[in-house]
Amino acid sequence: MYISSLSLMNFRNYENQKIRFSPYTNLIYGDNAQGKTNILEALYLFSQGRSHRTKLDRELIKFGADSARLKLKFHDSDRDYTALMQMVRNGRKTININHIPITKLSMLMNYLNIVMFSPEDLNLIKGSPSARRQFIDSAISQLYPAYLISLTEYHKALVQKSSLLKSIKRGADKTMLSVWNEQLAKNCARIMNERHAFINELCTFAKVIQKEISNEDFDVHYVPSIRVDKVDADTIFNFLELHSRREIEFKSALYGIQRDDINVFINNNNARIYGSQGQQRSATLSLKIAQAEYIHSVKGEYPVLLLDDIMSELDINRRTYLAEKIKNKQVFITSTDTDLVKSTDQTKLFYVKQGQVYEGE
Ligand SMILES: Nc1ncnc2c1ncn2[C@@H]1O[C@H](COP(=O)(O)OP(=O)(O)O)[C@@H](O)[C@H]1O
Ligand SMILES: [Mg+2]
Repeated sequence: MYISSLSLMNFRNYENQKIRFSPYTNLIYGDNAQGKTNILEALYLFSQGRSHRTKLDRELIKFGADSARLKLKFHDSDRDYTALMQMVRNGRKTININHIPITKLSMLMNYLNIVMFSPEDLNLIKGSPSARRQFIDSAISQLYPAYLISLTEYHKALVQKSSLLKSIKRGADKTMLSVWNEQLAKNCARIMNERHAFINELCTFAKVIQKEISNEDFDVHYVPSIRVDKVDADTIFNFLELHSRREIEFKSALYGIQRDDINVFINNNNARIYGSQGQQRSATLSLKIAQAEYIHSVKGEYPVLLLDDIMSELDINRRTYLAEKIKNKQVFITSTDTDLVKSTDQTKLFYVKQGQVYEGE
């Protein structure tokens, strides 16, 4: 899968820019705050429907403009795609792919697969469980859009249950709570099973990669908040009902996929607690490359890789390893320093200065 061109109108600090990309390495360089990440952000939007940096679409519209327009051409082994996106300052974002209106995020997920690796991800191992949940949720949704539908339904019901728990009195009638628990249980079971399967698959790839990068043993465990022998709707419902007294006492939804986590082990030690910074970085790199390889194994297409400013964060061995892995695949690399990336005749250079892109400089 590869992207051949991007046009930006009033997007971030770009007024009117068209960029043609190489199907292999695209190296986007320039000083800080010139617009390098903005380009990756635009690409990412077409895959995930939202920015990796903000939830607010209006921040993406150029200061002083009322709307932004983006156009992306991309290709897989079957077809060519033209995608259009428009954002209006006080309205909703619209997306079309080959003239089909994309009305749901789960529809968008069927098209462009992207794996992004940015400096914030280096916190994945150390950071909060919610960052790790977001990583697995976005990875699974890209492959199985139905997962995203379950997730959205689950969270809608969870909001209702949470607000009920806030107002419910101790010893009060639990009938309404049971109604929400029943609704949650079905999606909860589905999501738990999908997470479990995905983490096992991801781990199989990541083990090999971590061995190659640093000759270390690697493992990823799913840590569900609800521990039951058999994960199905009935069992989850019974679990929630059994624990409802405690939830009422704490006025909060204490059990469910909103409290799940993953644990990463390097040489049998929990990397969050015992890993060095270098180990935590390689672990994240392994997980990201594993994600790309897993997508390839399921879809038969390699996703597009976006590497935002991470070359300076990796040591020479890891950079060399990464360069070998991305050979012959489409990758976008941003950097302030071109020396960090070994240019080959497959590399296309873009120099970015104040919202202008100069090709091949
Ligand atoms: N909505 C916007 N309108 C105009 N300029 C913006 C907008 N959002 C961000 N910028 C500008 O974009 C620049 C940052 O771009 P970015 O791609 O993050 O830089 P870098 O090259 O360091 O990756 C800053 O100069 C910032 O002021
Ligand atoms: Mg940047």
